Parts: sequence; C-alpha cells; structure tokens
Amino acid sequence: MEGKIKRITTRTLAEMKVRREPIVMLTAYDYTFARLLDEAGIEVLLVGDSASNVIAGHETTLPITLDEMIYHGKAVVRAARRAMVVVDMPFGSYQGDSKGALHAAIRIMKESGAHAVKVEGGASVIESVQRIISAGIPVMGHLGLTPQSIYQFGGYRVRAKESSEAERLRQDARLLAEVGVFAIVLEKIPASLAKEVSESLPIPTIGIGAGPYCDGQVLVLHDMLGLNKAFSPRFLRRYADLAASVSEACTQYIRDVKNRDFPSLAESYE
Ligand code: KIV
Repeated sequence: MEGKIKRITTRTLAEMKVRREPIVMLTAYDYTFARLLDEAGIEVLLVGDSASNVIAGHETTLPITLDEMIYHGKAVVRAARRAMVVVDMPFGSYQGDSKGALHAAIRIMKESGAHAVKVEGGASVIESVQRIISAGIPVMGHLGLTPQSIYQFGGYRVRAKESSEAERLRQDARLLAEVGVFAIVLEKIPASLAKEVSESLPIPTIGIGAGPYCDGQVLVLHDMLGLNKAFSPRFLRRYADLAASVSEACTQYIRDVKNRDFPSLAESYE
C-alpha cells in the first residue's frame, strides 16, 4: 500500500524557520504544472494574481477577478498532494472593507479548497487581515513592491531604499506578525533590509528580489522556466528555456504537417 503523503502546513513552515531550512515556493495556475511542481517537492504553491499577467495577458495584476482566482485555485488544489496551496486575494476584494474581505476569503477557501490566502499591504489592510484570521483562515502577507499598488508607485523600481519607507516596512512586518499572519512575502527590497526583517520576525519571510537572507524564496513559474523573454529583472534566474523548446517543437510540427510526414501510417488507425 502507498504511504500517506504528509501535507505541508503553516506549522511545517514555522518549524522550517526554526531549523533554518529554506522554504521553496513557486507560483502555479493550472493542474498540469501544479502536479509537476508538487511531485518535484515544491513546498508552497502560490496561486498568484500574476495569473492576470502570465495567463490572461493583462499589463497589471489589477483586472483579475475573485471568480478567476478561485478557478485557478481549484485546478492547483486538485493537483497538490503535498504542497500547501496559497491563493492571492485579488485587487478590490479586501481593501477598505473587512466584512467584504472575510466574505471573499471564505469564498476562496470553500470553493477552491486552498489552505491559505495572501494579501498585499500592512497597516492599511490590517482590519481585513485580523477579521480573516479570526475566522480561522491562515493569511500570508506581502510587503515591498506590492504589484496591486503599481499605479501609486508609478513603476516596478526597488522599494524601501529610503529610510522612511524602510521604517514603514519594518512596522508593517511587525504589525502583520503580531496579528498572526503565518509568513510574509518580501518583494524587491534591499537585501540588507530583508535580512534585518527576517531575523527580527518570529514568522518566515519569503523573498522575491529580496536577496539571499530570507527564510524562503519564490519566483513566478513562467519567468523561471524561461517562457517570458521580455521580463528580465536582475533577481530572475532562469532554470530552463521553455520558450525556445516550444518554438522548436511548433516549427517541427508545422514542417511535418506541411510535408505530410505527420501523421505516419503507424500513427493512424486501420
Ligand atoms: O502574484 C504573484 O505571483 C506574487 C509573487 C510575485 C509573490 O504575488
């Protein structure tokens, strides 16, 4: 009989921080990739609202809807046997209205079967975070470059380089930890600040463009697989060149069909 696979939980992640074992997170949006990632041993699958960019082709993460996030969440949850699945709360579903935020978080948990939700921001969304946590839903925070605020930032530059913004980030991180978030994503901030925050918090930090001292790392799947040639920030390491593989496969397929090489009789039925 096959042994039962032990699910990664918020407790597992807390224990990993204590053991200083790096946490590995990747984004996932569909069943096929999520199954491969889960089988490879990725510990946390983030159903990121970056689906708005890499799946739907929008310029920003703002247009993706709650229903669309739940759709992607469901597909990933069906595939994940070991990984913890975290679903991003989309723009507009939790800012400014904590009752609405709880309703949206409950929909994500009930309808997708995810294990946690993620929200962007600190003090400005703390009422929503507290209300969601008080309903027993684990919340992951996200500070630094928070893409849902991109029009306020005016671009994708490194955040918290100035001391006032760095101080605000420290306070936000402390506040999120105090109200009970189980981990915080730190995006595109100086490595020294990420180190300081990671060492001062009792909960894990997961970095993206935040240097090597975070308790874990996350990348957007399509970027690290080399599917998106147009996006080349300094922090991105590409682990494959799938754009080239897909292009070569399609070129070969076109050639074979045009030359009547495909299908052969062996690939046909009698
Ligand atoms: O939506 C996303 O992919 C994210 C990661 C960049 C952390 O939030």
